[in-house]
Amino acid sequence: MKVAVTGSMAFDYIMSFPDSFANHILPDQIQRLSVSFLVDSMRRERGGTAGNIAYNLALLDQPALLMATVGQDAPEYIASLKARGVDTSGVLQLPNEFTASFFVSTDQTNNQIALFYTGAMAKSGRISFIEQDCQSIKLAIISPNDPWAMVKYAQECQDLQIPYIYDPSQQIPRLAADDLVKGIKGAKILMVNDYEFEMIKNKTGLTTDEIRSMVETIIVTLGEKGSLIYTDDQTLEIPPARPNRIADPTGVGDAYRAGIIAGLMRNYPWKVIGRLGSVTAVYVLEQHGTQRHTYNRRQIASRYRELFGDAPELDDFVNYLDED
Ligand SMILES: Nc1ncnc2c1ncn2[C@@H]1O[C@H](COP(=O)(O)OP(=O)(O)OP(=O)(O)O)[C@@H](O)[C@H]1O
Ligand SMILES: [Mg+2]
Repeated sequence: MKVAVTGSMAFDYIMSFPDSFANHILPDQIQRLSVSFLVDSMRRERGGTAGNIAYNLALLDQPALLMATVGQDAPEYIASLKARGVDTSGVLQLPNEFTASFFVSTDQTNNQIALFYTGAMAKSGRISFIEQDCQSIKLAIISPNDPWAMVKYAQECQDLQIPYIYDPSQQIPRLAADDLVKGIKGAKILMVNDYEFEMIKNKTGLTTDEIRSMVETIIVTLGEKGSLIYTDDQTLEIPPARPNRIADPTGVGDAYRAGIIAGLMRNYPWKVIGRLGSVTAVYVLEQHGTQRHTYNRRQIASRYRELFGDAPELDDFVNYLDED
């Protein structure tokens, strides 16, 4: 059985400026600002929420159907995910578009100037669950993407009775309060970080208890403090895993989600599911880029045992063969 992964596909262009932007911006000329910064390093990284989640699921050997839009510049990106075992038949490639692109430049004082070009992502509403082989989808995740597409996917999952994780995250400011409530009410799980959870409460006027009464499970991540899982009758505190070093936190939330999904697909208890999320997350922290790390199920299980002790489910986690 597969998990359907919806969200963005993007390239991140990461540059560094060997000076301070402030030295070159004239505050009294701000009305006719015209600046060009010569940057001395640039990396292009594969990213996007759907791409990152699918990449991590592939490392975990969890069958995934990627449903996202890309432009003319992404054939290698898609081919590499496919080579890792991701089902890319749900990807729509638009020949006249560029893949969503994030351009960010950081100066010596850690100030940033960034631009996000939506590109093909703006057309992700053209993809539909109705066109997929829904019988093989056990679970879906609706991750940050074009806001209209997120609303559409939530409705389709409800209509087709596909259980879904609602992961509105960075798009909360762009979603109407009503749409957020509908997305949450129809979901199996709401998954956000603590800041985003506060934003949802502010925007909808709902309290934690009211949101808990709407959705079976809420997972709130707390960065280096770990995460909380609110189920019908209990609140579980999930400890973080200990990273060996912190190189770059980008993408940590996406890797955490993949660990959670892998545990959910195997029906493990919440305690184990949460810890699998914690362990997968730290591999991303330890490398620059969101898809440069690697791990396999055996390594995840041994790091889990090292940090949290044994769990009976870990043998199954290492050895299972997906029947699909
Ligand atoms: N410094 C850290 N040390 C250990 N684990 C961490 C650290 N930062 C994050 N994590 C793990 O990753 C999970 C998700 O992190 P976080 O709450 O920062 O997500 P996020 O804000 O959605 O991240 P993103 O920037 O990717 O959107 C945490 O619950 C925790 O398990
Ligand atoms: Mg996040």
